[in-house]
Amino acid sequence: MPAINSVVSLETNEGVAVIRVDSPPVNALGADVRDGLAGAIDAIKADPSVKAAVLVCGGRTFIAGADISEFGKPPRGVPLHDVLDAIESAPVPIVAAIHGTALGGGLETALCCHYRVADAKAKFGLPEVKLGLLPGAGGTQRLPRVIGAEAAVAMVTSGAQMNAKAALAAGLIEDIIEGDLTEGAVAFAKRIAAEGRPLKRVRDDNSKLGGTADSLAPMFAAFRSKNAKAFKGFEAPEANIKCVEAAVALPFDEGMKVERTEFMKLMQGLQATAQRYVFFAERQAAKIEGLDPATQPLPVKSVGIIGAGTMGGGIAMNFLTAGIPVTIVEMKQEALDRGVATIRRNYENSAKKGRFSMDEVEARMARLTPSLSLEDLGQADLIIEAVFENMDIKKDIFGKLDRIAKPGAILASNTSYLDVDAIAASTSRPESVLGMHFFSPANVMRLLEVVRGAKTSPQLLATAMAVGKQIGKVSVVAGVCHGFIGNRMLAARQEQANKLILEGAKPSDVDRVLTDFGFPMGPFQMADLAGLDIGWSAETSKGETVRDRLCEAGLRGQKNGHGFYDYDEARNRTPSPVAEQIILDYAAEKGINRRDIDDQEILERCLYPMVNEGAKILDEGMAQRASDIDIVWINGYGWPVYRGGPMFWAENDAGRATIAEALEKMGHDVSPKLVGGW
Ligand code: 3HC
Repeated sequence: MPAINSVVSLETNEGVAVIRVDSPPVNALGADVRDGLAGAIDAIKADPSVKAAVLVCGGRTFIAGADISEFGKPPRGVPLHDVLDAIESAPVPIVAAIHGTALGGGLETALCCHYRVADAKAKFGLPEVKLGLLPGAGGTQRLPRVIGAEAAVAMVTSGAQMNAKAALAAGLIEDIIEGDLTEGAVAFAKRIAAEGRPLKRVRDDNSKLGGTADSLAPMFAAFRSKNAKAFKGFEAPEANIKCVEAAVALPFDEGMKVERTEFMKLMQGLQATAQRYVFFAERQAAKIEGLDPATQPLPVKSVGIIGAGTMGGGIAMNFLTAGIPVTIVEMKQEALDRGVATIRRNYENSAKKGRFSMDEVEARMARLTPSLSLEDLGQADLIIEAVFENMDIKKDIFGKLDRIAKPGAILASNTSYLDVDAIAASTSRPESVLGMHFFSPANVMRLLEVVRGAKTSPQLLATAMAVGKQIGKVSVVAGVCHGFIGNRMLAARQEQANKLILEGAKPSDVDRVLTDFGFPMGPFQMADLAGLDIGWSAETSKGETVRDRLCEAGLRGQKNGHGFYDYDEARNRTPSPVAEQIILDYAAEKGINRRDIDDQEILERCLYPMVNEGAKILDEGMAQRASDIDIVWINGYGWPVYRGGPMFWAENDAGRATIAEALEKMGHDVSPKLVGGW
C-alpha cells in the first residue's frame, strides 16, 4: 500500500480509498498516526476519483485511544482536534471499519466518520474517566447525539464497554460485517456512494439526544444521586456529567468549548496524573525484572487446590470461571460438600443477577472435581495450598506434595504471612515452590501477590504471573518477608490505629479520617467485618489487648451485631458504648494519658508509617519497584486510585521529606529510601 508515513497508508481502488493505520501495539493516536491521518485526508480531498473512504486498522484493534504516553509532554504533530475536523468535514463519506476495541480517542475518531461498521467481536467505550479524564475530542458531545444523553452519561462516567450487538441496537454502528472486515467495509462504502447517501455528520443531528435541558434535568439529578457513593472523591465523573449536560443544553460548538475547559482542568490535576500513572504501573507490575526474555511460561491446564474453605473455594472459582479444570481436596466429606455447595451457590447467585446463564453455572461446576485424597493431585500443573495458617500443617502438606506432584508442577502456598522458603525446604524441589497470596473474597479481589522464594525457578515464577493474568488478576511479585508487601504495610497502619484509640481518638474518628481520605472502610470497620475473634479463643485469651477484652465481653464484630460498633439488622452502625468503655478502662489501667487528637494527626500517624514500611520493603528488595507497592494497595486494600497509591502519594502529594521529618519526630526508624528517593 502507498505509504502516507510509517504508520498510515492509503490505497484507492474503484473510487474507494482505504486509509489503513498500522501502529502497534494498539494503534494509539500518537503524533505519527495523527500526521498520517491528516495526510491521508488531504490526499483524498485532492483526488477527484475518490467517491468514498474506509478507515481501518491493522493488528489487534482499531484505534484504542489517544497516546497516553504523550500526556503531559510538549505537543507534537497535528493536533487531534484538527485531524478529527478534517475527517468530519471531508467531502466524501468516510466509513470507520472497527475491530478489537474502539476506545477513547479511537471511538471519538469513529464518531467523526460518517458511517461506522464493525466485526461481531468489536467493543466500544470511552474509558477516559478511568484515567481521571473525560473524552476530550468531542466524545461527550457526539456520543449523546448518537445513543442519547441518558445512555451516554452512563457510558462516559463508567468507562464501560458496549459490544457490537448492543452498538448496532443503539445506533452507534450501521452494520455488523461477517467475513473480511475491510472487504465488507469497502462494499458498504461503495453502496452508500452509489446510492448517493448524504454525509451523516453527528454534530449536525440533535434528534437522538432524548430531550431538552429542562426535560432531561430530572434524569441527570437522579443519575447523580444514584451514583453519589461510587463517584465519591473522584473529580472526573462530575466533569463528564457536566459535559453531557452541555451537549443537551448548548449548540455543538458551545458544548465543545465546555468539554475543552473541563478536559484541561482535569488534565492539569493530580487525580489524572495519578490515574494515568496507575494505568502504566499495572502493566509494569506484570514484568519480572532480570528475567531472561527467552523464558516462556509453562501451560497450566489443570489445577489442584487444597482446602475448600472460604479461600480455597474462592480461589477455585477463578480457575473454573477461566475454563481451567480444578480438583479440590478436603480432609472430611462434610467440609468438602460444604465448600462445593458454596461455590455453586455463589455461581447461582451471579446467574440470578443475570451475569451469565444457568447453563454456564453447570459448565463451570462440571470443571470441578471434589476429592478427599491428595493423591488425586498427581497430574495437576499447579497446586495451591489454602489451608489454615500453621507452619507445621503446611510443611506436612508440602512434604506429601513433593511425593505426589508430577515433576515441573508448581507448588504454591496461599499463605498470607508465613515463610515461603521454610515451606519450600520441606520438599526436595524448592525451585518449584512459591507463594500465591490471594485476597478475600478471592473470586472478586483483583490482587494476587506472587511470592518468589530464594530458590524459586524463574520459569515457574513467570508461569504463576501468566496464570494470574489468565484468571484476570493484577499480579505483583513480592519477596519473602513477614506479610509480604500488603499485610506488612497494613500491620504498620494497624499498630498506629490501635495506639490512637488508647491515646484519645475514637475508633469511629480513625475510620472516618481514613474513609474521608478515600478508603472504602477504616481499620475498625474492617476488624468488625472480618470478625474480632479471628485467631482468638476463650481458653487461651490472656486479656492482654483491647481485642482480647472485647472478645471476652462477647463482642465479636458484625457477625453477632456487636464490636467496635453496634449493628442493626440492616447493618447500620453506631459506635458501641461498651467497646468505648473497654478502651477507656484499658487505657487507664496502662496509665495512658488521653488527649484530644485531631484529624491531621490521625491521618499522618496511620499513613506515614505505612509509606515508611513500603520504603523499607524497597530497601530490602522485597518489591521490584515502588509502583508495584501502589498496585498492591489499590487492588488489595482499597487505597483510592485517584491518589495513585501510597508511594505515589508520598512522592507527589504529601512529600517524602515532610513524611521523613514527621516520622523522625514520632521516633520511627526512617528508611534510607524515604529520605533519598526510590
Ligand atoms: N496509549 C499509549 N499506550 C497504550 C495505550 C494508549 N492509549 N493503550 C495501551 N497502551 C500500551 C500499554 O501500555 C501496553 O504497553 P506495554 O506492552 O509496553 O506494557 C501495550 O499498549 C498493550 O496494552 P495492554 O497490555 O493493556 O494490552 P491488552 O490487549 O490487554 O489491552 C487495550 C488493550 C484494551 C486497548 C488496553 O490497553 C486499554 O484499555 N488501553 C487504554 C485505552 C484508553 O484508556 N483509551 C483512552 C485514552 S485517553 C483518550 O483517548 C483521550 C481522548 O479522549 C482525547
